[in-house]
Amino acid sequence: MSGRHLAKEQPDSFAFSKEAEKQVKAWIAKYPKGKERSAVIPLLWIAQKDNGGWLSEPAMRAVGERLGMAPIRVLEVATFYTMFKLAPVGEHLIQVCGTTPCMLRGAEKIKTICKRRIGEKGVMSADGKFTWEEVECLGACVNAPMVQVSNAAGDHYYEDLDEAAMEKLLDDLAAGRQVAPGPQDGRHASEPLGGAQVLTDKTLYNGSRARPLKSIPNAPKTEKPKAARKTPAAEKAPAKAATKPAKPKLLKAARKGLADDLKRIAGLGPRIESALNALGVFHYDQIASWTKAEAAWIEEQIKARGRIARDKWIAQAKALMKGEGK
Ligand code: FES
Repeated sequence: MSGRHLAKEQPDSFAFSKEAEKQVKAWIAKYPKGKERSAVIPLLWIAQKDNGGWLSEPAMRAVGERLGMAPIRVLEVATFYTMFKLAPVGEHLIQVCGTTPCMLRGAEKIKTICKRRIGEKGVMSADGKFTWEEVECLGACVNAPMVQVSNAAGDHYYEDLDEAAMEKLLDDLAAGRQVAPGPQDGRHASEPLGGAQVLTDKTLYNGSRARPLKSIPNAPKTEKPKAARKTPAAEKAPAKAATKPAKPKLLKAARKGLADDLKRIAGLGPRIESALNALGVFHYDQIASWTKAEAAWIEEQIKARGRIARDKWIAQAKALMKGEGK
């Protein structure tokens, strides 16, 4: 196995966000007292997600502290499992399945496209948008070839790819457009192209995947779910109007060519920082001045709904302007 080493450049600190803290507590509570260390893999995963997709050395230390483990023990786990990334990754981590079914169905062409458009395996693209790597079977062989894309929106499979579909997927992701996960050739799940070819006799089958066949002997009866009764308070309460996103003032470049280190805002990692820079956000005072509507617009662009309020970016940015931040 090739060596897996920590990134040379490391941040000074790491702290779990509020949301991640809840998950950390829930995972530790699953194990008996004295056996908390069994939660090391889930905690590393939570830390990685909370740190923009990679594990920094301070993040691993934080995991060790929570579990009463020596840092070296945490490092041993993190360096063993390749799902843990030891260096910053792009906004979108593309994992190309290269195992036999995907290979036979064109994974080599997908890899060639990634190499041409993104660069070498495991190396972040110059614009910070992408990193790609080859992985073993991801369990979607019936929809080969496929890739998994991990980004602020989650971890999603894109299946039944060909060269054109892969190029389009990269174009859409680069432009910040939403792409529906699943088969990219129009078929439903793993049905044949053009739709189902069995169980099409509606006298036997009612056409719905959700309900069992009426004519199957002993088929379980389905009951219509009862509509949830509204409480009097819920009936009276007017629906809360969602904040209409509004574009904030953006800059073409950092003032005097010197951007603030936005990563000092807890909950804002390198991936989100490069996304904000690409939008035209470089300084604490820009973030400190956002209204609710402007924060909603930014969240839409970086696909991190609720993150700004949850991690109190605006308050943190104000504190950093006064020289009070971390
Ligand atoms: S071989 Fe690619 S998903 Fe299984």
